[in-house]
Amino acid sequence: MNIERTILSASEEETEAFGAALARELPAGSILALEGDLGAGKTVFSRGFARGLGIEEPVSSPTYTIIQEYPLPGGGMLYHLDLYRIADSASALAFGVDEYFADPDSMALVEWPERIADILPDSVIHVSIRHVSDHERQITVTRP
Ligand SMILES: Nc1ncnc2c1ncn2[C@@H]1O[C@H](COP(=O)(O)OP(=O)(O)O)[C@@H](O)[C@H]1O
Ligand SMILES: [Mg+2]
Repeated sequence: MNIERTILSASEEETEAFGAALARELPAGSILALEGDLGAGKTVFSRGFARGLGIEEPVSSPTYTIIQEYPLPGGGMLYHLDLYRIADSASALAFGVDEYFADPDSMALVEWPERIADILPDSVIHVSIRHVSDHERQITVTRP
């Protein structure tokens, strides 16, 4: 499976569609690190990703809750984490962040993964979203 790619998204809808398509390709157990500034589109991508997995409930930013969990139709969970308010990996481990990465039936999306760079699993897929203009974003997917 080749998951190295770059696209130019011209709208929120295109970013959602890209997230949905990627979700349908990736196996259970996948963990995605979503990199990009505030307002880049990490949560928009996550909403599309959840749709691609068949999750129908509304997906909103977990900035204040840190984590939102959505059951997957086929079993397992989608964990959506926003670590903006987490200082470092020690604080993340204190709330058990590693447990969200350990379930082979579940998937995880991590906004602000920089906060826990030292404990991200090696298998993590990087999705980097960059502002190009008001409505354009460059999205790059890499697995190192
Ligand atoms: N091509 C695009 N892809 C994603 N979001 C876009 C795009 N163009 C404009 N936007 C806007 O950018 C914002 C992205 O917000 P959000 O996903 O919450 O960012 P983040 O989670 O990275 O902080 C939304 O207001 C969205 O409407
Ligand atoms: Mg966000």
